[in-house]
Amino acid sequence: MKVVSVVSAKGGVGKSTVSANLAAALQQQGHTVLAIDLDPQNGLRYHFTLEPSSMAGLVQAPQDADAWRALIRPTESGVALIPYGDCTEPERQAFEAELRTDASWLISRLRDLELGHGVVVVIDTPPGPSAYMTQALTAASLAVAVVLPDAGSYATLPQLNTLISTYCEGRDNFSGYGFVVNQVDQGQQLSKDITQVLRTTFQDRMAGLVHLDQSLSEALAHGKNIFQYRPHSVSARDLVACAQWVAQRLDL
Ligand SMILES: Nc1ncnc2c1ncn2[C@@H]1O[C@H](COP(=O)(O)OP(=O)(O)O)[C@@H](O)[C@H]1O
Ligand SMILES: [Mg+2]
Repeated sequence: MKVVSVVSAKGGVGKSTVSANLAAALQQQGHTVLAIDLDPQNGLRYHFTLEPSSMAGLVQAPQDADAWRALIRPTESGVALIPYGDCTEPERQAFEAELRTDASWLISRLRDLELGHGVVVVIDTPPGPSAYMTQALTAASLAVAVVLPDAGSYATLPQLNTLISTYCEGRDNFSGYGFVVNQVDQGQQLSKDITQVLRTTFQDRMAGLVHLDQSLSEALAHGKNIFQYRPHSVSARDLVACAQWVAQRLDL
C-alpha cells in the first residue's frame, strides 16, 4: 500500500479537484486506487457521483477492520471511495479529539485493512495545519502540496515545508514530496511569471502543473472526473502527467 496525501496551506486551491482526478488518473494507468476524504466538508464524493446517498464514513471512526471495509464505496470511475461521512457537530468534535490523541490513527487503520500490494490510497485534506493534516502527513508515502501561481501561495511555502518535514521526513517509508501548481492561466502574465518562479524553486519537486480549465468545474457539476467528462481536455492531459510523476516517485 502506498499513501499519497494531498495538502495545502490555503483553501480553495483545488486540493479536492486534484485528489479526485489524480486518483482517477492513477486508476486509468492500471493501479487499484482508494480515495479517502479526510475533510469535514465531505465534498470529495461529489467528484464521483451527483447524488450521494447519506453516507457513513471515517467520522464514524470504526475501530475494527471489517467495519472499515464496509465504508469503502465503489464508484463509476473505478476508484473506490471512503467519504468523510455525514455527522452531527458533537460527532465531528469527538472524532477530531480522537485524532489528536493518536497521530497514527489513520495509518494504523489503513494497515488493518490489508489492502494488498500495489494499492494506492489518495487522501484529501482540509487546508492548513489541523489534526487531519497531521494524520494525512503521518500516513503519507508521498505528500503532494497544491499551490496556486500567486503571491499568496508563494508566501505559504515555508509553512508547508515545515509541516511536511515535521511529520514526514526521517520516516523510512516516506518517498518525498512534490508540488502541483494549479489553475495556471497562460493568458495572465503574472500567472506565467510565478509559475516560472515556482518551477525554479521546486526543481525536481515539481510534480506538475494543471491549467485553469473550466472543464474541471463542469466535470464536478456533473459528478464526474475529467477523464469521464472531457478526456481530451488540457487539464486531463496535465493530470495524467501529475499521476505519472506520482507513480514514478512511488515506484509503482
Ligand atoms: N485547474 C482548475 N481550473 C478551473 N477550476 C478549478 C481548477 N481547480 C479547481 N477548480 C475549481 O475551484 C474550486 C475549488 O476547488 P476545490 O478542489 O474544491 O479546492 P479545495 O479542495 O482546495 O478547497 C472548485 O469549484 C473547482 O471546480
Ligand atoms: Mg477540498
